[in-house]
Amino acid sequence: MQDHYKKFDLTDKVALITGASEGIGRDIAIGLSEAGVDIIICSRREEKLLEVKEIAEKTGRKVQTYAIDIQNVSEIEGLKAFIKAKTGKVDILINNAGYAVTKPAWDVCENDWDTMVDTGFKGLFFCCQAIGSIMRENGYGKIINLSSTFSQSIVPGRSVYAGIKAGIDHLTEALAMEWAPHGIRVNGLAPTAVNTPSRQVTLQGPILEKVLARIPLGRLATPGDLIGAVIYLSSEASDFVTGQTLFVDGGWVAAS
Ligand SMILES: NC(=O)c1ccc[n+]([C@@H]2O[C@H](COP(=O)([O-])OP(=O)(O)OC[C@H]3O[C@@H](n4cnc5c(N)ncnc54)[C@H](OP(=O)(O)O)[C@@H]3O)[C@@H](O)[C@H]2O)c1
Repeated sequence: MQDHYKKFDLTDKVALITGASEGIGRDIAIGLSEAGVDIIICSRREEKLLEVKEIAEKTGRKVQTYAIDIQNVSEIEGLKAFIKAKTGKVDILINNAGYAVTKPAWDVCENDWDTMVDTGFKGLFFCCQAIGSIMRENGYGKIINLSSTFSQSIVPGRSVYAGIKAGIDHLTEALAMEWAPHGIRVNGLAPTAVNTPSRQVTLQGPILEKVLARIPLGRLATPGDLIGAVIYLSSEASDFVTGQTLFVDGGWVAAS
């Protein structure tokens, strides 16, 4: 017997999660600490990170916070230096931080564009580069980039966001190819709508009904749906998987 399930074990791994102060990133951070992982959580709001730290530390794992605006590459370099000084390694990078504006394409202004692209695409790339270089020194690592069903489908008002997410899927493939020789696996995770605090404003009434009607399994995604997928993509169980985007979407894309 080979005990294949042991390949899912993440005990004593170190993970960095961006955008961990609320929403999906917060839940993934807590979920990973419950799975035995020491975590480094970052976003701009230190006070929110400290709330997440207090919860995650109840698992007995180490939790470190780092305040950063990932739109600035110099701050990402600062994060890299912090990690090298504190843990010396990162096994798992969850590139979760993102920013979404919902507006007709006619009304998107330069500031909307810059904030979405600099957070969701530029910031994500330079986090891959900075943290990937630490993984390269260790010859192993798992990067998970948060994509979305909108990388392959469309609703009105999400043009720039959809373009960024499609770009992330292809960037994931490109980095997977370049970094496979260094043992770094790069994959994407694409949820359908998740009822996070930032989405609760829009996911109501007729909009919610329309979204649910597009999901064959008939409900929104939950943090638990995503954490199971994160554990798989972070663990040895997925060591032969790279350059893929896993859609955790209740069938949304298949039905589109
Ligand atoms: N919720 C959904 O329905 C859904 C569906 C598909 C995909 N996604 C993707 O999943 C990810 C998380 O979504 P979410 O709904 O959980 O988002 P959210 O609730 O808006 O949280 C975004 C997180 O990113 C951080 N962040 C934003 N700008 C940042 C910056 N410049 N530098 C550092 N951190 C920054 C925020 O913290 P601070 O404000 O403290 O910086 C926050 O922790 C995103 O990539 C999103 O596109 C979400």
